[in-house]
Amino acid sequence: MRDVGLGRLRDGLAPTPPMGWNSWNRFQANVDERLIRETAEAMVETGMRGAGYRYVVIDDGWVARARDGSGHLVADGDRFPGGIAALAEHVHSVGLRFGIYTDAGTATCEGLPGSFGYEFRDARRFASWGVDYVKVDWCHTDGLGARTQYLKWSAAFLAAGRPMVLSISEWGRHRPWEWAGEVGHLWRTCWDIQDSWDSLTAVLDKQRGIAGHAGPDGWNDPDMLEVGNGGLTLDECRAHFSLWSLLAAPLMAGNDLRAMNDDVRSILTAPEVIAVDQDPLGRQGDLLRSSGGSEVWARELEGGSRAVVLLERGPVTREIGVSWPELGWDPAAEVTVRDLWERADLGAFREGFATAVPAHGARMLRLTPKGS
Ligand code: GLA
Repeated sequence: MRDVGLGRLRDGLAPTPPMGWNSWNRFQANVDERLIRETAEAMVETGMRGAGYRYVVIDDGWVARARDGSGHLVADGDRFPGGIAALAEHVHSVGLRFGIYTDAGTATCEGLPGSFGYEFRDARRFASWGVDYVKVDWCHTDGLGARTQYLKWSAAFLAAGRPMVLSISEWGRHRPWEWAGEVGHLWRTCWDIQDSWDSLTAVLDKQRGIAGHAGPDGWNDPDMLEVGNGGLTLDECRAHFSLWSLLAAPLMAGNDLRAMNDDVRSILTAPEVIAVDQDPLGRQGDLLRSSGGSEVWARELEGGSRAVVLLERGPVTREIGVSWPELGWDPAAEVTVRDLWERADLGAFREGFATAVPAHGARMLRLTPKGS
C-alpha cells in the first residue's frame, strides 16, 4: 500500500496526477513563444482545459546558449523576444498554468546551460517569472546523487516562496519511487517513450510492481503522451490513454493541439477515462494477470468500484475476461459493468465479464458491485 510516512511531501499541489501539455514529444527543441501562446489558446478552444488540462510546459530548447553577465538563466532572445514572464502571464490570462524545463546537471540534454550549482538562483528566477511547474532533467550529472540533487531543488522551491510543481526526470535510474515522494510531485520511472506500439508496451512493462509508491502529491510518471503524433493507430492511442489513466499517470499531451483532428481530441478529452486518472482516492492500478499478449490491469476507485483495462498486445483480436474472485469479490456478487469509451452501461453480471478486445487495443471498464 501507499507509503504515507512522515517524509512524504503533502503540500496539496498535485492532489491528483497533473494534466497538461509539454512541447517535447512533438516539437523537440523547436520551441518559440508563438507555439506556446497558440498552444495555450488551443487548449481552451479545443475543450482540453474544460476536460481538466492545466499546465502548458516548455521543454528543452528555450534557454539561451549562455547565462547573462550576472549568472542568470535567460531565454533565447530570437525565439522568445517577449521574455518568459510575459509568456507566463499570457498563459495565466487564458486560465492555465505555466511550466518550464531545466536540468540538474551542468547542461541540458540538448547541450544548453544546466542548473547545477545554480539551483536556488534559478528557482528564484522561475518564481519571479510566474512559473507554476518545473521539469528537472538528468543529463550531464556524472558523479551526482539523484536524491541529493533533487532535495536541493525541493529546498530551492521552498526558499523561492512560490508553489511550483517539481517534475523529477531521472528516468527511473535510481528507483525514484522509493525516495522521490518526499522530494517532488512526479517522477519518471523509465527512459523516453517513442511514438510506436513497441515503445509503449516496453514502457508499460516498467510500471509493474511500483503502484504502492504513488498517491496524492506524488505520482509515478511513465512519460508523456504520444496520442495524436501519428505513430499509433486510434486503437493504440485509446489503449495508451486507458493504461496511463489506470496507472494514475500524469496526463501530459504531447501532440500539436492546434492541428489535432476530432478523433484525437475525443481520445484526449474522454471524460470517463480521465475521471479514472483523476480519481480522488489516488490509488495507482497494476497488472492483475497476463497470458500471451492478453493482459488484465485493475485499479481501485473511490467508493468501491474498480477500473479495469483489458489489453491485447498482439496482432489479433482476442476475447479477454476478468473474474470477480480475482478482484477480491464474491462470484455471486452482482456487478454493473460500464464501458468508459462508449460511455454506456453493458449490464449487471455475476462471476465475471469477458469481451472481444481489438488487436493492439484495449477496452476500459468501470465495475461497480451493487449496493456499494
Ligand atoms: C530527456 C527527457 C525528455 C526530454 C529531453 C529534452 O531525454 O527524458 O523527456 O525532456 O531530455 O532534451
